[in-house]
Amino acid sequence: MSTFDLIDHDIEAYCEAHTSPESKLLHDLNRRTNLETVNPRMLSDQLQGQFLAFISKMMRPKHILEIGTFTGYSALCLAEGLAEQGELHTIEINVEYEDRIREYLSQSPLGNHITLHIGDALEVVPSLKKEWDLVFIDADKEDYRDYYDVVFPRVRQGGIILADNVLWNGKVTQTVAGGDRDTRAIMEFDDYVQQDGRVRNLLLPFRDGIMMIEKK
Ligand SMILES: C[S@@+](CC[C@H](N)C(=O)[O-])C[C@H]1O[C@@H](n2cnc3c(N)ncnc32)[C@H](O)[C@@H]1O
Repeated sequence: MSTFDLIDHDIEAYCEAHTSPESKLLHDLNRRTNLETVNPRMLSDQLQGQFLAFISKMMRPKHILEIGTFTGYSALCLAEGLAEQGELHTIEINVEYEDRIREYLSQSPLGNHITLHIGDALEVVPSLKKEWDLVFIDADKEDYRDYYDVVFPRVRQGGIILADNVLWNGKVTQTVAGGDRDTRAIMEFDDYVQQDGRVRNLLLPFRDGIMMIEKK
């Protein structure tokens, strides 16, 4: 269940009731994340998971990069669309999540297509010599622009970058409190993408806002 407040809750419940359900593995992962982690609202949910899986299945990417694994929910959804020999690399800075992520990856038939990197994405991304078809940015909000800049040269022409939480629970349209660095960073990122002549972009008002970016 989403905890974001941008969509009317009845509408959201109706959408969930008319969207394919989670697999048993994703349902368990979702449930355990809610029971056992301090900040479970970071997790993608059924709707966003299906959205990511749809995008990936439409693209059939060979190489997917995810920045911000958390417990692995979105990685497993994105991996559903991988091409036959495709691979997904996902980066998580918090070593405390590592065992849990590996446990879930090992239970999935897609697990052997997924490589988990524990470390800071800003250091790990330059070390991955791949050409990315699809990138999902979903880590520290203050660093969104840096993730974008570090990954952009390695995204193929026509490749897609998705950035989550770009409406930041609606705070982007409100007066920003002095110390609210996350909201400022998200607004700067949104403006940066909007002014980037190298891309075509769509800010989708779905869940907490997803910026869809195509490299021209
Ligand atoms: C919103 S959660 C990711 C949720 C996950 N993508 C999903 O949809 O289920 C953000 C994650 O990014 C991680 N993170 C924050 N800064 C990072 C960095 N510089 N490099 C890699 N991971 C980072 C956090 O520890 C956290 O687990």
